[in-house]
Amino acid sequence: MGIYRLSLLLVLFVGVLHLSTAQTRSCARTCNVFYRCSPYYTELVYAVVDGVCRVYQNGCIFGNENCTRVNQCQSPLSSTSAEKCKEFCPRRCPSGGQEVCGWFPYVSGENGENSDRYIAFANRCLLDQYSCQNDIAYAYEPTLGPCP
Ligand SMILES: *[C@@H]1O[C@H](CO)[C@@H](O)[C@H](O)[C@H]1NC(C)=O
Repeated sequence: MGIYRLSLLLVLFVGVLHLSTAQTRSCARTCNVFYRCSPYYTELVYAVVDGVCRVYQNGCIFGNENCTRVNQCQSPLSSTSAEKCKEFCPRRCPSGGQEVCGWFPYVSGENGENSDRYIAFANRCLLDQYSCQNDIAYAYEPTLGPCP
């Protein structure tokens, strides 16, 4: 192997090394501010996440979701207005896919009782579409399969 090719390899190697340290650096500041949030307390927060408008039940849950993303080296969330967000409601969803169950916590009655509504959707896209179009948040990640 000639000296030229060897140095080329070295440059490549250093380059790759550089790239990987840069990647870990941008992700090293881990977010460890996690709160216990009430899923029933409703003060909706809207954010466009990976091109899709997501509705969060309250700022506490939104903050935790942001932390989870940051710790997984995904881009942090930033909230936006309902109007702006809803331009990004899923428009067309496939009809097939993996069925999911969304948990929609809410408060009802004069005494403000914690209540739960579970709705099954043929897929995640339809769940997000329903949530977005109706300004109603599902709590946490939906479970896969039919509702209990
Ligand atoms: C998301 O988390 C990052 C890292 O902790 C933080 O700097 C940022 O302010 C958070 N954004 C929101 C909208 O909470």
